Amino acid sequence: MGQKPITFLRQVVSLCLMPSLMDDPNIPSDVKERAQGILNGCKGSSLGSYSDSAGVEVIRRHVAEYIERRDGFPSNWEDIILCAGASEGIRGTMKMMIKHDNSIKPGVMIPIPQYPLYSATIAEFDLHQIGYYLNESTNWGLDISELERAYDEAKEVSNPKALVVINPGNPTGNVLTKENIQGVIKFAYEKKLFLFADEVYQDNVYAEGCKFHSFKKVVMEMGAPYNQMELASFMSCSKGYMGECGLRGGYAEIVNLDPQVKTMYLKSISAKLCPTTLGQAVMECVVNPPREGEPSYEQFIEEKKAVLSSLAERAKMVAETFNSVPGMSCNVVQGAMYAFPQIMLPEKAVQAAKAAGQAADVFYAFQLLENTGICIVPGSGFGQRPGTYHFRTTILPQPELLKTMLEKFRDFHSNFIKLYE
Ligand SMILES: Cc1ncc(COP(=O)(O)O)c(C=O)c1O
Repeated sequence: MGQKPITFLRQVVSLCLMPSLMDDPNIPSDVKERAQGILNGCKGSSLGSYSDSAGVEVIRRHVAEYIERRDGFPSNWEDIILCAGASEGIRGTMKMMIKHDNSIKPGVMIPIPQYPLYSATIAEFDLHQIGYYLNESTNWGLDISELERAYDEAKEVSNPKALVVINPGNPTGNVLTKENIQGVIKFAYEKKLFLFADEVYQDNVYAEGCKFHSFKKVVMEMGAPYNQMELASFMSCSKGYMGECGLRGGYAEIVNLDPQVKTMYLKSISAKLCPTTLGQAVMECVVNPPREGEPSYEQFIEEKKAVLSSLAERAKMVAETFNSVPGMSCNVVQGAMYAFPQIMLPEKAVQAAKAAGQAADVFYAFQLLENTGICIVPGSGFGQRPGTYHFRTTILPQPELLKTMLEKFRDFHSNFIKLYE
């Protein structure tokens, strides 16, 4: 998508891979110090050796310190599991929900629309998907009454075990308020649900008045009995200002896990040996960035700010453009990297889709692709209320390209509507 990599991060990783660069006088001292710290934590001082299955200890300790700075509450480094991207951590944690007998299926509550990793993993692990709808009319807010409805309906056919919340949301771009998070925690506590807090977009909050609150912090603020709840929070190097999705870095913080379950969990991840040490090194940079006064600080902050402020601008541009198109409505992109606008499709278009053997939003997406080269994901890929049509697009293309894309999109849409009206 043309995003420039963060210099500090790439330098540290380069030195880890090529320690002879430590002698290069052009490399700042804090980069050398970080890289040496990582290498000291690796067996044989090399990124090429296996690490502990839960990750390099010193990086896990730095993750815990990062969480403490972020939340103002203690974090235990032994609760930190490094993983090859958040996906691996989420799947490894979701595995704990699998049952091995013929009893009723364990259920996992997920938002609709959702990020498809969840529906796919639930299907693969033979769990029961319990969808709860997000509320489009309140900027994709999370209604507790809807959680109740979905839970009550599902408990007839499954044994609800876990609740997934994605905050900031993919594909919705919603950022939850603290009050909303408190409501979700109370609900999960009452129903004895394991909480999955997918917080990979914690650095991507743009809208005025919105703030990221981690579930871990809110649970701790709420005190007993909520601070005893089993909770897993996930973070990634793929998002934020980093965008290093190919290097596969992530972590899970899993708190209050039953000790016997934790033993089995650690055993299960040890069968995979270890997450890529390269991804772990990236995570070290994210949780232990240059500090004020260090030689890389100024450049790091400048690069980080540039990425995040440009994303904020694009978030605004995308929502405003879609809202200016007749027959489209788009909620404010408060955070994350996506917009999920609704499109009103004329009945004739729905019929044409049927004749082509496609869902109406899929038909629309293919027509857009064929006519403009723009690729979107139809709303049915994420889930949507029956009878409504959406698509997901990202705010990731660089501003000029995004502008051109949006202009082409607007033209296509008005021609499409004219054709089928
Ligand atoms: C909500 C959400 N969770 C998890 C992931 C997976 O990220 P990773 O690259 O860290 O595996 C993504 C990626 O798009 C995502 O959007």
